[in-house]
Amino acid sequence: MIEAEPMIDEFDTVASWTASAVRELGEDHALPAACRGSGSPAALDWLGSAMGLGEGARLLDSGAGVGGPSEYAARSWQVRPLLAEPMEGACRASRSLFGRPVVVADGAALPFRDGSVEAAWSLGVLCTLADKPPYLAELRRVVVAGGAVGLLVYERAVDSLPDQPEGNHFPSHQELLDELGASGLEVVGQTLLTDLPGTPDDWQEAADRVEDLIRERHGDDERWQRAQEQQDTIVRLIGEGLVVGRLVSCVAAPA
Ligand SMILES: C[S@@+](CC[C@H](N)C(=O)[O-])C[C@H]1O[C@@H](n2cnc3c(N)ncnc32)[C@H](O)[C@@H]1O
Repeated sequence: MIEAEPMIDEFDTVASWTASAVRELGEDHALPAACRGSGSPAALDWLGSAMGLGEGARLLDSGAGVGGPSEYAARSWQVRPLLAEPMEGACRASRSLFGRPVVVADGAALPFRDGSVEAAWSLGVLCTLADKPPYLAELRRVVVAGGAVGLLVYERAVDSLPDQPEGNHFPSHQELLDELGASGLEVVGQTLLTDLPGTPDDWQEAADRVEDLIRERHGDDERWQRAQEQQDTIVRLIGEGLVVGRLVSCVAAPA
């Protein structure tokens, strides 16, 4: 479960503020503002297509945040999204923005039966977890044998980072491959975010307008300041190439 205060600020409090800002600015801001870790539509397009998402499939989003990626998947591939997320503020935000089914749950203890969904994805969640195997084991357990599991993982590209945002645990590429293999998730495709097209201008501008409004309303609040510091550190690490975003498409081995 999440204990680091800056992460609660970022994933709970700011999530609630995001929904309020979208209500003020208009519905066309919802998707860009609610993709909080998954970045560009190109990344979601790559992953959804690598996973073979198709109409009617039930897609579990574990660590769904404010729900933008699930909504994107529902609109792009007509999947039926099911969101699981430990932060209540984020759950309320996604529910109010998109109205999709959401459950407050730790990804390491999902309240779903074995093999109950055709596919699952996890976007920007793994690097927030100190103990990754129980979370990965749950993804594999709830997906039907042979089903698709997709991940966006921020990896450490160097042995040690100069500056680690509190509560983050970036795996190296080899650590990631080892943990996926040990969890029964067979990698069938992967790409780096840097090899995909960037975020379209209109998408980025909408996300920026939401961020600006949140700063205007809450910039004096120390919870916003802590969340912002956290974000700035991650952006700096990515900008310097010390942390890289990788998309991985896997198949769940039979239990
Ligand atoms: C960077 S955000 C990404 C949110 C969303 N997946 C997206 O791409 O927009 C990381 C999310 O992981 C969630 N998270 C942290 N620990 C978790 C856990 N043990 N199980 C499930 N989700 C968790 C956080 O609450 C947060 O919503």
